Amino acid sequence: MTSTQAEVEIGYDISNEFFRLWLDERMHYTSAVYENDKQSLEQAQINKCRILAGFAEATPDSLILDIGCGWGANLEYLVLGHKVKRAHGITLSRQQHDEIMQRKLPGVTTWCVDYKDFVPPEKYDGLVSIEMIDHLVSPAQQQEGLAIPIYREYFNKLAQWVKPGGHFGFQAILRNRVPRTRKDLEDLKFTADVIFPGGLNPRLEELVAAAGQSWEILQLHTRRTDYGRTTAEWLRRMQLHEKTIRAKWGDTVYDNYDRYLSTCVRAFKNHWSGDVQMKLRRID
Ligand SMILES: C[S@@+](CC[C@H](N)C(=O)[O-])C[C@H]1O[C@@H](n2cnc3c(N)ncnc32)[C@H](O)[C@@H]1O
Repeated sequence: MTSTQAEVEIGYDISNEFFRLWLDERMHYTSAVYENDKQSLEQAQINKCRILAGFAEATPDSLILDIGCGWGANLEYLVLGHKVKRAHGITLSRQQHDEIMQRKLPGVTTWCVDYKDFVPPEKYDGLVSIEMIDHLVSPAQQQEGLAIPIYREYFNKLAQWVKPGGHFGFQAILRNRVPRTRKDLEDLKFTADVIFPGGLNPRLEELVAAAGQSWEILQLHTRRTDYGRTTAEWLRRMQLHEKTIRAKWGDTVYDNYDRYLSTCVRAFKNHWSGDVQMKLRRID
């Protein structure tokens, strides 16, 4: 079945302090968008948020919902950077939710809830969802042919939460080619089983098929090389803190995250994985 709360929390609840050591200060845990060779990870993460806020057509008067809002980095961008007066967020991780509450962001309200159980208090002007859909389909469900129906359920449900003509800035990790060597296959399986259990990245064609019932795709950009650069920077930063991580969280945590991030770098380089951003408009 779809990732449970316990499975999702395996991926995010080691400790907020652990993730802050190697993600950027705001803790964006998704691909950044680099505009040139010199940009820092921090700047590239802001670029990503700005693009998606633009896709959602967010203005200061909009009410925007971030589905799968992580530790609140994009919500922070929306209210402080994009000057949106009110933004809502939902996450399945309690530690992420605690972190957002501690940030006391003006105009931000969040819930720790499965998107399937979320009852929006009012209709939204726009939506953003950044690499949350990758948790919705398990490998077993994909093999049973359930991937497109599950993604369609997500897109159709979200379409009911926006006002007519509402826009959606969407981003997802993609599953592309299959690696050729046994070691590479094992490393990818390790990442799926140990770091993000219960989830599977969608294929681009599955997303296009699923979104199209209720959303018109206005723009689509692939971001494979951006994610390669983002994960390489996360790995570099994590390795700088090897001693601290081994001392505080143990050798297994360090070794697992070293293997996972090294695999990600190779996955984006070799086209096993990709990333996509889409601008969607509700079909009325
Ligand atoms: C890879 S993280 C991305 C976090 C954030 N969007 C960012 O850019 O840093 C995926 C997020 O989706 C959330 N999530 C996964 N499944 C969910 C579900 N069924 N309902 C609500 N949130 C979910 C997780 O709790 C996590 O916050």
